[in-house]
Amino acid sequence: MAGSLIGGLIADGWNPSSIRVSDTDNRQLQRLSQRFPIMTTTDNNSAVEGADVVVLAVKPQVMESVAQALADSISKQQPLVISIAAGISESALRHWLGEKIAIVRCMPNTPAMVQSGATAMYANPHASDDQRSVAESILRAVGIVIWLDDEAMMDAVTALSGSGPAYIFLFIEALQAAGRELGFSEKTAYLLALQTAFGAAKMALESEEDATLLRQRVTSPGGTTERAINTFDEGGFKELVSKALHAAAERSRELSKEFGNTK
Ligand SMILES: NC(=O)c1ccc[n+]([C@@H]2O[C@H](COP(=O)([O-])OP(=O)(O)OC[C@H]3O[C@@H](n4cnc5c(N)ncnc54)[C@H](OP(=O)(O)O)[C@@H]3O)[C@@H](O)[C@H]2O)c1
Repeated sequence: MAGSLIGGLIADGWNPSSIRVSDTDNRQLQRLSQRFPIMTTTDNNSAVEGADVVVLAVKPQVMESVAQALADSISKQQPLVISIAAGISESALRHWLGEKIAIVRCMPNTPAMVQSGATAMYANPHASDDQRSVAESILRAVGIVIWLDDEAMMDAVTALSGSGPAYIFLFIEALQAAGRELGFSEKTAYLLALQTAFGAAKMALESEEDATLLRQRVTSPGGTTERAINTFDEGGFKELVSKALHAAAERSRELSKEFGNTK
C-alpha cells in the first residue's frame, strides 16, 4: 500500500526527495529505492524527524508497537499523522502517539495499486483544514476520496469498498465458470468476463446516469438480459449481497476490538 502511495504521489508531481520511507525489511527498501529516487532508512524515528506529515502503513497487528516507539518524536514535532491501517481507531492512535496529535484515519482499497482506489477518510478535531487538504491530496494520488463525519462508518466502508474488490473478482470468477459451462475455453471466458466488468464500470463512471438506469436500458422486455436478471432476483441476489456486507462490517468491528484495544 505504501509503495502504491509513493508511486501515485510521484506520478502526481510530488518531489521524491521530500519522501522518506522506513521499513524494517531492507529488501523492501531496496526495491522501492530502485523504483523511486526517495530517501530510505530502517529507523522509523529518523524517517519521522522534521516531517510535516507521517503516514503509518504497517499491518494493524504491529501498529501499537510502531506507534509507541514513535510517540516521543511525534509529540515533540506534532506532525499530521495519517494511518491507513484497517481497524485501528483514531482514539487508539491518539492513546499511543499523544492526545493532541492531528490524525487522519484512512481506509483505502487494493485498486489503489493501479491508481483507481476508493478511500474513505476521517479526521480528528485536532486536524486543521490545511492538514485535511494535505491528507486528501496524498490519498487522491491513488484514486477517489470521500470524507466521513462519523468514524464508526469505517466498518461499513471496509465492508463496501475495502473488501469490495474481492466481491467483484468473485463475480468475475462466477461469470468465467458459467462461460466455461456454455462452451468457452477458460481463457476466452475470463477475457469476456473481465472486459465486461471493466467496460460496465467505465461506462457507469463516464455516464451521468446511475447503475439502475443503465441496467434498465440494456434490459429489453422479454429479452435475454431480463431472463438472467429475473433468475438473479429469484435466487435472492440483492439479499445475499446485503447479508455479505453486514457480515463483513461485523467482522471489521470484531477486528477493530482485537487490534485497536487501548485498555
Ligand atoms: N492491502 C489493502 O488492500 C489495504 C487496504 C486498506 C488498508 N490497508 C492497510 O494498509 C496497511 C498496510 O497493508 P499492506 O497490505 O501494504 O501491508 P504490507 O505489504 O505488509 O506492508 C507493511 C510494510 O510495513 C513493514 N513493517 C512491518 N513492521 C514494521 C516496523 N516495525 N517498522 C517499519 N515498517 C514495518 C512491513 O515489513 P515486513 O514485510 O517485513 O513485515 C511491510 O513492508 C495495513 O495496516 C492494512 O490494514 C491495506
